[in-house]
Amino acid sequence: MSAAEFIPPGASLPELGEAAKGCRGCDLWENATQTVFGEGPSPASLMLVGEQPGDREDREGSPFVGPAGRVLDEALEAAGVVRDSVYVSNVVKHFKWTPRGKRRIHQKPNAAEIHACVPWLNQELAQVQPKVLVCLGATAAQALLGRTFRVTRHRGEPVESDLAPCVMATVHPSSILRARDDETRRLEMKAFIRDLEIAASHVAEVS
Ligand code: URA
Ligand code: SF4
Repeated sequence: MSAAEFIPPGASLPELGEAAKGCRGCDLWENATQTVFGEGPSPASLMLVGEQPGDREDREGSPFVGPAGRVLDEALEAAGVVRDSVYVSNVVKHFKWTPRGKRRIHQKPNAAEIHACVPWLNQELAQVQPKVLVCLGATAAQALLGRTFRVTRHRGEPVESDLAPCVMATVHPSSILRARDDETRRLEMKAFIRDLEIAASHVAEVS
């Protein structure tokens, strides 16, 4: 099973977003509220890819509008990047969760779910044609750059890839929220902003 069979041939980006609403390419749609497709201008020189929608994104239907999205917004602003100029998406388009009391706890998508969903992202890439593609966190980085890629070792470095003229990875903004103390959080935020500045500088370089 995969999203591929739900992709209408020759579809525009808005048509792809419409079609993704009915995707049944894996089982994740069953427990989610709605498909959360990517959002932003197309073409866009900078594209960011996260893991999957969270609780808030699942309710609102847009990527990175919850707590991790606030960290991302703050970091983009600090890096001098206008969020509305960026195309933002995820490798998996439905929220995977498990109940804990009244809360819905995020669960990592597995390899089969990532494999099933990635055709949507490939379509988005083909339409958006970013100059610079940034993977946010290990799930996105390993899905797009290979299972052996290590964000901790290679964050902020351009990586050889056919996906875009410049491809790199950095941490996921939610990892900053999980920092063990304020000082660690401040330093991690600083490093995240620096990676986004590097991405922005590559946008300026790639013509
Ligand atoms: N985390 C992600 O990876 N993506 C979102 O859209 C929200 C949180
Ligand atoms: Fe389709 Fe992806 Fe949702 Fe699975 S997670 S149903 S492949 S959109």
